[in-house]
Amino acid sequence: MNGSAAYVEGAVDYTTKIPNNVNLAEDGRVLKALEQWHPGYIDWWMSMGPEGFQASEVYLRTAVSIDPKGWAKFGHVKMPEYRWGVLLAPQEEGRLVNFGAHKGEKAWQEVPGEYRAMLRRLLVIQGDTEPASVEQQRHLGKTAPSLYDMRNLFQVNVEEGRHLWAMVYLLQKYFGKDGREEAEGLLERRSGDVDKPRMLGAFNEATPDWLSFYMFTFFTDRDGKMQLESLAQSGFDPLSRTCRFMLTEEAHHMFVGETGVGRVIERTCEAMKAAGIEDPFDIARIRALGVIDLPTLQKKANLHFSLSLDLFGSEVSTNAANFFNSGLKGRFMETKIDDDHRLTSAVYPVLKFIDGEIRMVDEPALTALNMRLRDDYVKDCQGGVNRWNKLIEKAGVRFALSLPSVAFNRHIGEFAGVEASPDGKLLTAAQWAKMRDQWLPSSGDGEFIASLMTPCWERGEYARWVSPPKVGVDNKPGDFDYVRIHAG
Ligand SMILES: [Fe+2]
Ligand SMILES: [Fe+2]
Repeated sequence: MNGSAAYVEGAVDYTTKIPNNVNLAEDGRVLKALEQWHPGYIDWWMSMGPEGFQASEVYLRTAVSIDPKGWAKFGHVKMPEYRWGVLLAPQEEGRLVNFGAHKGEKAWQEVPGEYRAMLRRLLVIQGDTEPASVEQQRHLGKTAPSLYDMRNLFQVNVEEGRHLWAMVYLLQKYFGKDGREEAEGLLERRSGDVDKPRMLGAFNEATPDWLSFYMFTFFTDRDGKMQLESLAQSGFDPLSRTCRFMLTEEAHHMFVGETGVGRVIERTCEAMKAAGIEDPFDIARIRALGVIDLPTLQKKANLHFSLSLDLFGSEVSTNAANFFNSGLKGRFMETKIDDDHRLTSAVYPVLKFIDGEIRMVDEPALTALNMRLRDDYVKDCQGGVNRWNKLIEKAGVRFALSLPSVAFNRHIGEFAGVEASPDGKLLTAAQWAKMRDQWLPSSGDGEFIASLMTPCWERGEYARWVSPPKVGVDNKPGDFDYVRIHAG
């Protein structure tokens, strides 16, 4: 019998200011630290969260349980009143450290002293991405192509906010004063700020329009998924449980991205058909229809894919080896992989830039873990691209989207210092400069897309450049009032 009658393993306690299933009511020190952090978080949300919609009522899902079948409830909520909580997946009886030098030991419930600094670093890097994307997306509400899309944007935003809470809880619970300082720092850095930028490059880029938002949630949130998947393997059990629950929310973010791009594709193909345009490269005529041509979609995909690849860090990395060896960060699907899970003598093929050419070479598997995770990510992306291509094929348009070479447009790792075409051919600086606007969005492309970004806020209506979704949120009809807009 647990000491507190009110506390049931797995149930979420809504009586404290911070909903949680970690028994905060009986953890006075951490509850106090979180309550002290809360006002700063709300300040941050009001000044850096969705601009102009803080008084609107949004049909949001809120996590109210960790039961996979019924973990969320839906209702109209003003975003600043969203119940951001601390939710961990249930503890698994007898869970072990499943990889690295400590393989086979009991999973840790406390931070191993020797790994304190490393673990703190992992939490802060993950935590920093969460508020960053909210900052990047804060202007998008104003140009939402429908109330349905607006609601999805805000859902993603509040959940990224909750993911920040998740990391802050771990920092405050397990890292004392250092953790509290890091938690403050997470509210101080700003996406794109010259003096205090967010920690990772892709999280300092602008998200200027809705096509960028869909691409970001497809490509960059998917990097988030891969990072969470490997942290969910952690031998530090509270981190594993935290990430497992975050992944249930993350799935929706990628859904927003994949279906968003899919709906743009459908609308474009439909408009081309109706106008009798067969050639997908007849860009001027297609744009005159008020839809986004497929070659421009390809450029946007090239940009967001390459920026997201940079998030995986250097292909060969001793940090990655240390994270694995110490049992803190595993591989994607670690426990399903058939090997010794220690990797002390294994090798892994890495694409490198050697003697002026791009070559595959074997590296020690331990130092190649970033490369491996990135390979798993690329496969996952390819699945989505294939589904997009099915839509194009079904519409009878002769065009296929593809992922560019991993050497294309890179700023971190093996290919940071070279220029390569989307099909992986090395280029001189002059060749690159000449072709750049064929492969990445040009300022003209940006202006065209911006010209389409006019708000469409009537119930059941959709902007001309994107198809309505097949089904609404929570089985609601297409003309549901997903957002009740009130100025603020
Ligand atoms: Fe997140
Ligand atoms: Fe996300």
